[in-house]
Amino acid sequence: MADEPLVLGIETSCDETGVGVVRGHTLLADAVASSVDEHARFGGVVPEVASRAHLEAMVPTVRRALKEAGVAPGDLDGIAVTAGPGLSGALLVGVSAAKAYAYALGKPLYGVNHLASHIAVDQLEHGPLPEPTMALLVSGGHSSLLLAPDITSDVRPLGATIDDAAGEAFDKVARVLNLGFPGGPVIDRVARDGDPDAIAFPRGLTGPRDAPYDFSFSGLKTAVARWIEAKRKAGEEVPVADVSASFQEAVVDVLTRKAVRACRENGVDHLMIGGGVAANSRLRALAERRCEDAGITLRVPRPKLCTDNGAMVAALGAEMVARGRAASAWDLSADSSLPVTEPHVPAEPGAPVSGAAGAGAHGHGNAHGGEHAHGHDHVHELSQGNLYS
Ligand code: KG4
Ligand code: ZN
Repeated sequence: MADEPLVLGIETSCDETGVGVVRGHTLLADAVASSVDEHARFGGVVPEVASRAHLEAMVPTVRRALKEAGVAPGDLDGIAVTAGPGLSGALLVGVSAAKAYAYALGKPLYGVNHLASHIAVDQLEHGPLPEPTMALLVSGGHSSLLLAPDITSDVRPLGATIDDAAGEAFDKVARVLNLGFPGGPVIDRVARDGDPDAIAFPRGLTGPRDAPYDFSFSGLKTAVARWIEAKRKAGEEVPVADVSASFQEAVVDVLTRKAVRACRENGVDHLMIGGGVAANSRLRALAERRCEDAGITLRVPRPKLCTDNGAMVAALGAEMVARGRAASAWDLSADSSLPVTEPHVPAEPGAPVSGAAGAGAHGHGNAHGGEHAHGHDHVHELSQGNLYS
């Protein structure tokens, strides 16, 4: 629908430069430039390399997204950007770029939370999120269970990993097996030929006295590494497919068990799974089965929307605009540890709110951006000429 908010979203919290364009719940463009290949030889993301890659990819990726969406920059209702959590230097590139675009175009700026964006993206695939929704977010940087009565204003952490993130465990086990980086996709593939019950690897934090919604994957990672080392020492061949399948099973067993329990104990009948590990085929299959048994409706976006991207940021930004949430201030800063309880970073009272007035420096922000923006057509023309041609 033409009256739904048209928002451009920028994501640079880790190693993907993502720029997405959405109108309400409709995805118009999802352009991603990844620097993952540049990190592969280090076996993990190197922050400085990621920041430099964002800087180089930003303008071309924004141009590509706008072109793909068939949208003129002046028609946007707002610019959303990941303000945190993530790598400081990497976040800073996105926040600076978003500010520049918003200011030049005279549009409101929305600094949003990366984790809440991972939840919001599902609206592009499955429509409006039921309220509340339970979210299991699993990626290379985070593993958490979140209760979300309203993704724009009320996201409650129920539990999180106390050591490694789920994706991190995949990456580390893949390294021990010499399967390369990132490890998740390749373990997923190799495990298809393996037996998930071949080796009984430990299920972290599943004892009766353990925190019911927290996760721990560091003990599992160590157990797998020790098991492999023992095989190698004994001069035996390491059964890569069986190790992969058994390790993967230990991870997804715990994730799905705790997620279903969280739904049941909190009276929530919708579970969404997001983050890079949500692309895992075994996680999707087991979650499907366990949710069905428990009468829970499962929502998992397609893999490309699960890994980091700009569309998820645009999706949350559009929801902020639709619900009339306050825009961010022009002095929005990146916050590497932005808590998930803050789905976005509204301007403090008295701060210079971003928006149409920003380019004219009146200091009156407008959450919807609409009326004010149209009063500044000269700004659009000027900035389109400078930034996009
Ligand atoms: O969300 P994401 O793209 O970036 C972060 O915010 O971390 O997630 C990347 C993580 C990596 O650890 C990667 O190994 C993992 O997601 N991953 C997978 C799969 N695809 C990506 N893990 C398991 N199975 C997969 N198919
Ligand atoms: Zn992420």
